[in-house]
Amino acid sequence: MKQRRWISVGAVAVATVAALNAVPATASRPYDPTAQSLAALGLRHGLQVGTAVDLAALNDANDPQYRRLAASEFSSVTAENAMKWESLEPTRGVYDWAAADQLVEFARRNKQSVRGHVLVWHNQLPTWLTSGVADGSISKQELRELLRKHITTVVSRYKGKIWQWDVVNEAVGDPWDTPSTLHYKGFWAQNLGPGYIADAFRWARAADPRALLFYNDYNIEAFGSGNPADDKPQFVYDMVKGLRAQGVPIDGIGSQGHLGTQYGNYDTLQVTAALKKFAALGVATAFTEVDVRSEMTEAVQAGNSAEINPRLQASAANFSVLMKACLAVRSCLSYTVWGFTDRHSWVPGWFTEPPQGMAAIYDENYQPKRAYHELKSDLIFAGPPYVLPRVAPKPRR
Ligand code: G3I
Repeated sequence: MKQRRWISVGAVAVATVAALNAVPATASRPYDPTAQSLAALGLRHGLQVGTAVDLAALNDANDPQYRRLAASEFSSVTAENAMKWESLEPTRGVYDWAAADQLVEFARRNKQSVRGHVLVWHNQLPTWLTSGVADGSISKQELRELLRKHITTVVSRYKGKIWQWDVVNEAVGDPWDTPSTLHYKGFWAQNLGPGYIADAFRWARAADPRALLFYNDYNIEAFGSGNPADDKPQFVYDMVKGLRAQGVPIDGIGSQGHLGTQYGNYDTLQVTAALKKFAALGVATAFTEVDVRSEMTEAVQAGNSAEINPRLQASAANFSVLMKACLAVRSCLSYTVWGFTDRHSWVPGWFTEPPQGMAAIYDENYQPKRAYHELKSDLIFAGPPYVLPRVAPKPRR
C-alpha cells in the first residue's frame, strides 16, 4: 500500500517534470538546460532561487549588469538592508519606504516573489530606539508596544506582497558567547525576555494571514551533539517545537547558510538530515542567505592560481551541498544567495582579520564562477524519485 502510494507520487512527479522540460524545445532550437537561468531551472522543482538585493547597486546607472542579472537569474528577492528597522524608521515616527517599496515593485515587474527581511533583529535598529532604551526614556512596556506597532505597520504595508517573512532573526546565542551554554541573546531577549518571539509571530500573523512566517538563523545547517546546551540546531528545534505546541503561528525555519572554505562544513546527507528533522515539525524550510567565503591570503590577492583554484572548488562544493540537500527535502521552498556577485558583497567589509572574500557565485566582473555552474547542474540533474516537487505548508492560524 505504502509502496503503491510512493510509486504514484513518483509517477506524478515524473509526468510534471517531463511536461516542464518538454515545453521550451522547438524544431529549430532544441531545449538546452544549460542556457536556462537558475530561476527557470529551479521552477522545474517548484523551488524558488533567490538573491539578496543591494538597493544602491540596483539603482546605479553605471552598473546595469547588476540589475539585469538580479531580474533574470532569480525568481525571488530579499532586501539586503532596505527592510531593516533602521532603514525604515530612521527617525521616530517617520517611515521611509522608498527603497523597500522599490524592491517590491522590482519584484512585481519581474514576476519574482519577495522574502521579507527582517522584522525583529538585534542589529541595525534605529539609534533613537536603542539609545532611548539605554537612557531609560523608553520603558520596557513602551518598547513592547513599539515592537508591536513596527511589526503591524510593516507587515500591513506589504500585505499580500510578501511570500515569506523573516519574523525573528538570530535570537539564539553561539557556543562562543558568554555564557557558553546556548541561550536567548541580544537586545530583545535582554529587554523583553524570550516571550517577544511568540508575540512577534502573533502580531505578524494578525497583519498578514497569508505570508509564511519564518524563524531565521545561522549555523543551523547540521545538527551536532543533540544537546541544546551546545547544539544550536537542537536549541532552535526545541524552540520551534515549543512555540508550535503553544499554537504560535510559525510556518518555517530559515537556515542562513553562511559558510567558509576554511572550515570543515558538512556533507549533503548531514544537511539533508537536518532539514528533514526541522520539516518533521510540520514547518517549511529554506536556505535564506547562502554564501561561501574564503580567506584572501596575499597569494590569493596576487592572483596565485594554486591558492585560488582550491577555494573556487571548495566554494562550489559547499554551495552545491546546500542545494542538493534542499532539493532532497520537499519542504525546502527556496534557496537564496546573500548577494550574487563579489562586486557587491558584505563579506570583505565584515571579515577583515584576516581578509575574506570570493563568497558569491559571480565574480566582481559578473562572470559566473564554478559555484554558479554547479548550482545549475544540481538543478538540471535532479528529479524523481529522490527529488520531488516542493510542498508548502498552509500558513498557520
Ligand atoms: O547605511 C550606511 C551608509 O549610510 C554608509 O554610507 C555606509 C558606509 O559603509 O554604511 C552603511 O551601513 C552599512 C549597511 O550594511 C548598509 O550598507 C553598515 O555599515 C554595514 O554594517 C551593514 O552591513 C550589513 C549587515 O547585515 C549588518 O548587520 C550587510 O550589508 C548585510 O549583508 C548583513 O546581512 C545580515 C543579515 O541581515 C542577517 N544575517 C547575517 C547577514 C550578514 O551579516
